[in-house]
Amino acid sequence: MLNEEQFYYFVYSWIVIGFITFLVNLKIKAPYGRHTKTTWGPMIDNRLGWIIMELPALLTCPIIYFLGQGEKAPVTLFFISLWLLHYINRTLIFPFRIKTNGKKMPLAITFSAIFFNLINGFICGHFLGNIAQYGNDWWESWPFIAGTILFAFGFFVNNQSDHILIHLRKPGETGYRIPKGGFFRYVSCPNLFGEIIEWIGFALMTFALPTLTFALWTMYNLIPRALAHHEWYQSRFDDYPEDRKAVFPRLL
Ligand SMILES: NC(=O)c1ccc[n+]([C@@H]2O[C@H](COP(=O)([O-])OP(=O)(O)OC[C@H]3O[C@@H](n4cnc5c(N)ncnc54)[C@H](OP(=O)(O)O)[C@@H]3O)[C@@H](O)[C@H]2O)c1
Repeated sequence: MLNEEQFYYFVYSWIVIGFITFLVNLKIKAPYGRHTKTTWGPMIDNRLGWIIMELPALLTCPIIYFLGQGEKAPVTLFFISLWLLHYINRTLIFPFRIKTNGKKMPLAITFSAIFFNLINGFICGHFLGNIAQYGNDWWESWPFIAGTILFAFGFFVNNQSDHILIHLRKPGETGYRIPKGGFFRYVSCPNLFGEIIEWIGFALMTFALPTLTFALWTMYNLIPRALAHHEWYQSRFDDYPEDRKAVFPRLL
């Protein structure tokens, strides 16, 4: 197992790799959902792809946490509960709610997401299970309180927006409409905005580099995707709301 110094070298390297991935993501749209391509090799059913690619995140962080040598303080158990809350939804509920009949994604996307989820799950689980030390007063600290509020807000926006998107289609439909309501008033991708805010909240409540790394990786993946979705909406719908931003209200 890595000692603490080696672990932090690994975390710094992962941040740099993430930034390179961000630059690549700005140039090449990740080919799933509306941007899917058949030229990326073998394909897998969309629903199955979502389950397989998110499962490592659901499992890795809690397993590594519980196997870790550190004290299982109530506050770290709370952090793991939030992780489980998010990933039980993303892995075991969301894939069964989406209307994705007959749609496929490249296996290459599934495998790259598995890799990303394994590393991020390891980094967060190892930190919380072996390194983290929070006193009993952490519950009353400002990072904990502010981070929890941000996480709850992000979780709400993410789920509300996914709910609106899922209900744009009637059963069996696979086309696209202009989403309205909720935070779609402000941005094209409030689900991605909500997800980014959730993990910034998680980084704040845990106040640590490893969890910040995960928040950064979420931005590295989701900001380019939101920009691509926004451009796609604008090119596809003549009546697309002009004042809508891509991902951050009033900013971007
Ligand atoms: N943490 C991370 O790094 C990460 C990475 C990726 C995703 N996620 C999360 O996973 C969730 C899904 O991500 P995503 O990128 O697939 O989101 P998305 O492109 O917005 O799609 C979400 C679902 O809604 C459907 N949909 C989207 N826009 C629609 C429209 N205008 N009309 C009708 N249906 C529409 C999509 O169908 P199609 O699939 O047919 O387009 C898909 O089933 C989000 O909550 C996101 O935050 C997290």
